[in-house]
Amino acid sequence: MTEAAIPKVGIVMGSISDWPVFRRSAQVLDGLGVPYEKRVLSAHRTPRQLESWIGQCEEKGVQVFIAAAGGAAHLAGVVASMTLLPVLAVPMESNLSGLDSLLAMVQMPGGIPVPTMGIGKAGSTNAGLAAAAILALQDPEIKEALIRFRKNQAEKVLASKFPED
Ligand code: RP5
Repeated sequence: MTEAAIPKVGIVMGSISDWPVFRRSAQVLDGLGVPYEKRVLSAHRTPRQLESWIGQCEEKGVQVFIAAAGGAAHLAGVVASMTLLPVLAVPMESNLSGLDSLLAMVQMPGGIPVPTMGIGKAGSTNAGLAAAAILALQDPEIKEALIRFRKNQAEKVLASKFPED
């Protein structure tokens, strides 16, 4: 599905170097049939373009943002400061294994909430699922897609086979 004329999720990352891991968020949304728009925009390298893009997303009908960044990962907090829409944060692995990114995101001072996922791959996957769950509150098709996802996931676990010794 990738890019959509009427996106419901805005995906933003601080650097294209985040994409190999963060793409899992987009893949989850693709699998659930959720339209999104993705951009590389940095809180400190392109702050004005970031603000402009957030406004454009709101005008297009985006209902939730997912932001990934590493290091002094202020991107999600800055996005959250510019919109009332929910902003989910994904800490990227960095020089300090991503603990720096995680703490920068999850330890937002009271007033601007940034719901934060786990570091890296699992966090990226879960951000896509969490965004879909938010949308599913109002969208029965996305709710059905989430129900199917959970069912398939459970079936895979139950069908697990041990390797031959
Ligand atoms: C952050 O700095 C990005 O989100 C990325 O995780 C990290 C490193 O960026 P690059 O130096 O690879 O562009 O802003």
